[in-house]
Amino acid sequence: MSNTTSKFFSPLQKTINEALQGTAYVQNENSEKKTTKHAFIETYGCQMNFSDTEIIASILSDLGYGFTQQEQEADLVLINTCSIRENAEQKVWNRLKHLKYLKKQKPSLMVGIVGCMAERLRYKLLDEEQLVDLVVGPDAYRSLPTLLQEVESGQRAVNVLLSREETYADIAPLRYHSNGVSAFISIMRGCNNMCSFCVVPFTRGRERSRDWQSIVKEAKELVELGYREVTLLGQNVDSYYYEGCTFADLLEKVALVDSRLRVRFSTSHPKDITDRVLEVMAGYENICKFIHLPVQSGSTRILELMNRGYTREWYLDKIERIRYYLPNCGLSTDIIAGFCSETEEEHQQTLSLMEIVRFDSAFMFCYSERPGTLAARKFRDDVPETVKKRRLSEIIDLQNQHSRESNFRDIGKVFTVLVEGDSKRSSADYCGRNDQNKMVVFPKQGTSFKSGDYVKVKITAASSATLLGQLQS
Ligand code: SAH
Ligand code: SF4
Ligand code: F3S
Repeated sequence: MSNTTSKFFSPLQKTINEALQGTAYVQNENSEKKTTKHAFIETYGCQMNFSDTEIIASILSDLGYGFTQQEQEADLVLINTCSIRENAEQKVWNRLKHLKYLKKQKPSLMVGIVGCMAERLRYKLLDEEQLVDLVVGPDAYRSLPTLLQEVESGQRAVNVLLSREETYADIAPLRYHSNGVSAFISIMRGCNNMCSFCVVPFTRGRERSRDWQSIVKEAKELVELGYREVTLLGQNVDSYYYEGCTFADLLEKVALVDSRLRVRFSTSHPKDITDRVLEVMAGYENICKFIHLPVQSGSTRILELMNRGYTREWYLDKIERIRYYLPNCGLSTDIIAGFCSETEEEHQQTLSLMEIVRFDSAFMFCYSERPGTLAARKFRDDVPETVKKRRLSEIIDLQNQHSRESNFRDIGKVFTVLVEGDSKRSSADYCGRNDQNKMVVFPKQGTSFKSGDYVKVKITAASSATLLGQLQS
C-alpha cells in the first residue's frame, strides 16, 4: 500500500478542508496528486468510530481519493457503523435500502460497510443486501487498498480479522470531522471488560494500548497546526498501560506538551479510575475538570448482573474522591433502563443515585439485547418494552431537571471559554466550551476573536443545554 508508514505526521498534515478542496487536488508531502475518485464517508456510533473514520480517510487520501459531502457525486460510499443497540444497526439497514436506489442509477458505485456492524455481521451483510461490495472490520483498515482493488476488479471483498496489536499509531489521521480547534487522539483500542450487555469486546477485540511516544508526538503536531484541545480516546482509558506508562502518566505527558492545549479524555471506568489520575488532573490547569463516568445502574444487584465490577457504594465513593480532589469537576454518565430482571425498586435506586450525584449531563438508553453477549446467553430480556420506556422517561425527566439546575448554578460565574466559531443560531454570536464541557454562547460585540482563542465569559442566563454570557474585558 502507499506510504502511510513513512509520512508520520508530516508538517503538511492533511485536514478535511484541504481534502475537500482537493476534490481537485489532494496534497501530501510527496506530490500534488490529481484526484480522480471521490469518497463519501458517513459515521455512526461513538467518538472512537469518528476517530477511525479519520484513519480511513487518511488511507483513502493516499490512494488518491478526494472527499465529497454529496453521496450522488461519490465513487465510493463507506458507512462506518455501530452495533451498540439494535436501533443503531437499524439506521444502517435503512441507509442501505436508500443506497440500493443510488446504486441502480450508478452501477459503478462501490458501497462498503466498515466498523462494528461489519465485524459483527460479516458475510451476512454481503448475503442479505446484494449491494454491499466491501466489508471491513475495525482492525483491518490497513487492507483497504487491496480490498478496494478486488472490488474494482468486480469481486466482493471482506476483511474482519481482529488484531492484538493494531493501534494505527503510524497513520496520521485526516481530520475529517475537525473544526480546526479540537481533535481526537485514539490512545488504545478494544476492551477486555466483559460487561454482560455490551457488544464492544466482540466487535473491537482485545484491549491494546498505543505507544505513548506517538501519542505525545501527535499532540505536539496538533498544537503546531493551531489545535487547542485534544480528547484522549479509549473504551476504558484507566487501563491504558504501555511499558510502565499508566494513564495518569500519559495524561501528565500530554498536559506538559503545551499549556495552551486543553486535554480531555473518555471513557473512564468506575472500577479502574485511580486517585493518581485525579491528582494529575488537579495539578494541571490545562486538563479539563470533567469526567464521564458511566454508572449504568444504581442497584448493586443489577451492576453485578451487568458484570461491571463495582457496587453502588463503590461508585458513590469514587464520586466523593472526585469531589475531594476536584471540587468543581463536571460529571456526566451513561444509564441503562430496564436491564434483565430489573425491578421497580432497583429502578428507584438508579433515580436515587442520580439525586445523590446530580450529574451535569447524561446519555440514557433502554436496554437493547445484543446477540452473543453474556446477557443474551444467560439472562432473559424480560422487562416489557413499555416498562423500559416509562423508566427511561423518568430517568430523562430527572436528568433534565438536574442539567437545568447545574446550568442555573453557573449564572454569575466567569469561565475561560475556548472559541470554536460562530454559534449555530447566529453569526452575531460566538460559541465555545468551558472547562466542564458546557457549551457557552455569547455576543461578539464588535470583537474579532478566532477559533482557538481563549476568552473570559460571564454567564448571564442558561437553559438545560446551553449557557449564555457576555465577554469580560
Ligand atoms: N466503554 C464505555 C461505554 C461504551 S458504550 C464504558 O464502559 O462506559 C456507551 C454506552 O452505551 C454504555 O455506557 C452503555 O450505557 C450503553 N450501552 C452499551 N450496550 C448497551 C445495550 N446493549 N443496551 C443499551 N445501552 C447500551
Ligand atoms: Fe462495553 Fe464495558 Fe467495555 Fe465499556 S467497559 S466497552 S461497556 S464491555
Ligand atoms: Fe458503537 Fe462500536 Fe463505538 S459498537 S459505540 S461504534 S465501539
